[in-house]
Amino acid sequence: MPHWSTLIREIPDFPKPGIVFKDITPLLADARAFAGAIDAMAAPWRDQVPDAFVGIESRGFIFAAVLAHALGAGFVPARKPGKLPAQVLVHDYALEYGSDRLEMHTDALKPGARVVLVDDVLATGGTLRAALSLARLQGATVIGAAVLVELPALGGRARWDADAPLHVALQG
Ligand code: PRP
Ligand code: MG
Repeated sequence: MPHWSTLIREIPDFPKPGIVFKDITPLLADARAFAGAIDAMAAPWRDQVPDAFVGIESRGFIFAAVLAHALGAGFVPARKPGKLPAQVLVHDYALEYGSDRLEMHTDALKPGARVVLVDDVLATGGTLRAALSLARLQGATVIGAAVLVELPALGGRARWDADAPLHVALQG
């Protein structure tokens, strides 16, 4: 188990009864742990640096922005509804605890742009699937995804229908 994984805290019954929330804030606050987590997420992309890392609001932003800077790539946000100012593409999806919508600017990615999707947690996979759909709608080439923690019991990997690696740094 990587040293940084001990700083992911489990909070039972948040935000709803029955959900065990993975709280990454202790990891982020620790310089060595944060760097270790970024190194683990970055490893597969060092020799195939994408044009951009697509960060999924909000916790995916943290990792995607740092990966973009570390590897010399761009950063593109996939945002919650009503936040992006220009014309958007929309994708609705179901969450482990509710439903939500992701949006991306219609001109955020050029056709053929090579991108990696980034999030902190893969649970049911709905969020990552939404980002995949939005990137594909723009004609981008999704060369993979980078996720900090996969919760295998929730089966999210089955919804990753891209012919590209879904790289997770930790299964928990
Ligand atoms: C959480 C987590 C992932 C998503 C995973 O985000 O950060 O983005 O759920 O769930 P799924 O695989 O079942 O779709 P959340 O929507 O809670 O928002 P946040 O990142 O803004 O905290
Ligand atoms: Mg999230």
